[in-house]
Amino acid sequence: MTIRAANEADIPAIIEIERTPGFEQFFGWFSEDEHRAHLTDPDCRVLVLDEGGIVEGFALLRGFVGGEGSIRLNRLAARTPGKGAGQQLLDHAKAIAFAEPATQRFWLRVAETNSRARHVYERNGFVLEGRLPAGGKSISGQPVDIALYGLLREVWQFEFA
Ligand SMILES: CC(C)(COP(=O)(O)OP(=O)(O)OC[C@H]1O[C@@H](n2cnc3c(N)ncnc32)[C@H](O)[C@@H]1OP(=O)(O)O)[C@@H](O)C(=O)NCCC(=O)NCCS
Repeated sequence: MTIRAANEADIPAIIEIERTPGFEQFFGWFSEDEHRAHLTDPDCRVLVLDEGGIVEGFALLRGFVGGEGSIRLNRLAARTPGKGAGQQLLDHAKAIAFAEPATQRFWLRVAETNSRARHVYERNGFVLEGRLPAGGKSISGQPVDIALYGLLREVWQFEFA
């Protein structure tokens, strides 16, 4: 099992995982062109968990150019939730985010109803920073309540690094 930077050949698998039935209640869909653009955007990092040539999950981080000290976990998804793939990707994502000396905070938005993801983030030291009622929209256009979470460098460094 390897975690590596994504490449063009991974895009179909990334899209397949992102569009897993049921995940649409948690996040929207990027177009294929958007996924491709993330690969070369200096502001982004796209990681995949590769198990014998099968992509088992992916993570998208943003803010490496324009984040002003904050890196955002913009997407995290496992092909099969509950087997630890998301945790492995999150470990890598945190390491990459805080490898930038300027990073003070790693943050994310999550649907309030996504109790599994919230449990995983809280287990990793992310703290609830605020709520955005109707702060997002589902694919069908319905309002989604959002929870904002942040992990500060001091917390990561002393408790989770
Ligand atoms: C969120 C996600 C990335 C986490 O990765 P994962 O590989 O499933 O994580 P793990 O297997 O390490 O851990 C899952 C944890 O959730 C817990 N869990 C499962 N269902 C749960 C629920 N409904 N409510 C609360 N916790 C739940 C499990 O008990 C486990 O916790 P534990 O090991 O402390 O007991 C993955 O579940 C996923 O891809 N989900 C769908 C997409 C998504 O929601 N992405 C996040 C968007 S912000």
